[in-house]
Amino acid sequence: MERRGFLLWRLGLLVLTLMDGSFATLSPSGINYEVVALMAIKNGLNDPYTVLENWDINSVDPCSWRMITCTLDGYVSALGLPSQSLSGTLSPWIGNLSNLQSVLLQNNAISGPIPAAIGKLEKLQTLDLSSNKFNGEIPSSLGDLKNLNYLKLNNNSLTGSIPDTLSKVEGLTLVDLSFNNFSSSVPKIAARTFKIIGNPLICGPNSDNNCSVVYPEPVSFPPDGVKDGSESGTKSHRVAVTFGVSFGAAFLIIVIIGSFVWWRYRHNQQIFFDVNG
Ligand SMILES: *[C@@H]1O[C@H](CO)[C@@H](O)[C@H](O)[C@H]1NC(C)=O
Ligand SMILES: *[C@@H]1O[C@H](CO)[C@@H](O)[C@H](O)[C@H]1NC(C)=O
Ligand SMILES: *[C@@H]1O[C@H](CO)[C@@H](O)[C@H](O)[C@H]1NC(C)=O
Ligand SMILES: *[C@@H]1O[C@H](CO)[C@@H](O)[C@H](O)[C@H]1NC(C)=O
Repeated sequence: MERRGFLLWRLGLLVLTLMDGSFATLSPSGINYEVVALMAIKNGLNDPYTVLENWDINSVDPCSWRMITCTLDGYVSALGLPSQSLSGTLSPWIGNLSNLQSVLLQNNAISGPIPAAIGKLEKLQTLDLSSNKFNGEIPSSLGDLKNLNYLKLNNNSLTGSIPDTLSKVEGLTLVDLSFNNFSSSVPKIAARTFKIIGNPLICGPNSDNNCSVVYPEPVSFPPDGVKDGSESGTKSHRVAVTFGVSFGAAFLIIVIIGSFVWWRYRHNQQIFFDVNG
């Protein structure tokens, strides 16, 4: 009996460990806090073609939503909404999606400031806000993004100086700040490709900056990001199905091994009795 108890205890521990991931995403009120953050983002945007229709506050998690990709343990890792005719503003609640690696919002009509809260997204590698109507300054908090690789803010209406903090970011492959209205001097940004052309106050006739210097583009962009937003829903679904199937298989194997051990135990006991008898 002791051995069976031990086995059940181990099984319970395993199930708890596997479920731990989903518990961690729940807010104290029992709602998945990534759902709350994404609903705030949805509410800030105008969505004329209702591409965000299946974003629903009553969802257990956002992993089956269109344009969302999740990690295997159920955290949002990518937000891919390029070319969806979105306008409105980008909510600072994006800063609560702390597992985001990729944010692709290029080629929309989003205006207002770039939320400073994006600087909290420690895992962010790709940020593409190009060809929108973002205005105001680049938040200096973007310098906190240690893993940032691709930063595309070109073709917006950004103004002010480019924050010095960006020179802290190592490992930048591409920084494109072209076609905005930045002013004053440009900090030393360590990027393989850096574009600043099309900023009249920096590249004007009296400036000593040579804005036309552009280093070669990297071969592929983005690296692992979502290329077509409309695919990400099915992609995350596929991941979910794969995970479900492997979880099911693992559970089945545990049950089979468990029953075998139990049967062996019973069987051995029987033989023991038989010999005694
Ligand atoms: C989520 O983001 C909002 C806006 O930035 C902030 O007020 C709130 O405290 C954040 N919540 C959590 C749990 O981080
Ligand atoms: C950015 O703006 C410039 C000037 O208006 C234009 O020539 C260029 O094609 C635009 N680039 C993108 C990616 O929209
Ligand atoms: C850029 O900013 C300057 C100074 O604020 C302003 O005079 C100019 O019209 C702006 N240019 C564009 C293209 O927005
Ligand atoms: C700017 O850079 C381009 C490309 O490297 C070069 O052809 C041009 O002569 C440079 N202009 C100045 C003013 O240095």
